[in-house]
Amino acid sequence: MKNIVVLVSGGGTNLQALIDAQKNGQIPNGRITCVISSNPDAYALTRAKENGIGTRVIVPKEFESREVYSKVLLEALFQEYADLIVLAGFMTILDETIIRAYHNQIINVHPSLIPAFCGAGYYGLRVHEAALERGVKLTGATVHFVNEVADDGPIILQQAVAVEPDDTPETLQKRVMEQAEWKILPRAVSLFCNGQLEVKGRTVWIKD
Ligand code: GAR
Repeated sequence: MKNIVVLVSGGGTNLQALIDAQKNGQIPNGRITCVISSNPDAYALTRAKENGIGTRVIVPKEFESREVYSKVLLEALFQEYADLIVLAGFMTILDETIIRAYHNQIINVHPSLIPAFCGAGYYGLRVHEAALERGVKLTGATVHFVNEVADDGPIILQQAVAVEPDDTPETLQKRVMEQAEWKILPRAVSLFCNGQLEVKGRTVWIKD
């Protein structure tokens, strides 16, 4: 059984999708053991508590440097015996020390079809604003392993979503969450916990 630690900063609807999937038996080889928030007011913390999951709050700006923050976060991950770290709406870019310590054990959900609308500055609603401004007809979500470059690691799963003519960033965000993120994130977590993901270069192979 893999220990899953979920890192959050906000509403936590992706965390909720993971909790629901676990309850429904869709992640048979993993369990969410801890939720760590960078924001003490994140509603994701309430979702965790309501489901009996342990929580920690580690706020980056409360530390004197990024190095110290990263050391404290890394220590927490060790204490939780994390096998898999899921970034579910986590708005802090992780330090190299953490990425190296958990090579191909950190996965992120991003609300676009990478490599479009990703990297530094593309997060949350901004991603959907950029997609609408560019006039794309298809967008979607990506789940990928995390490497040293933002939104650059090997892609595990993607799901496309159609853009509608009357979409606003908010309506598009909601549809991308419902039709893509909440489906592919639990699926990718389950595949990881089953030992079905193999990374070769920049490609992730899904084994039967
Ligand atoms: C989600 O759309 C997630 O993909 C995005 O933030 C939202 C968090 O929602 N993450 C990023 O943009 C990271 N680059 P949630 O807190 O309800 O899961």
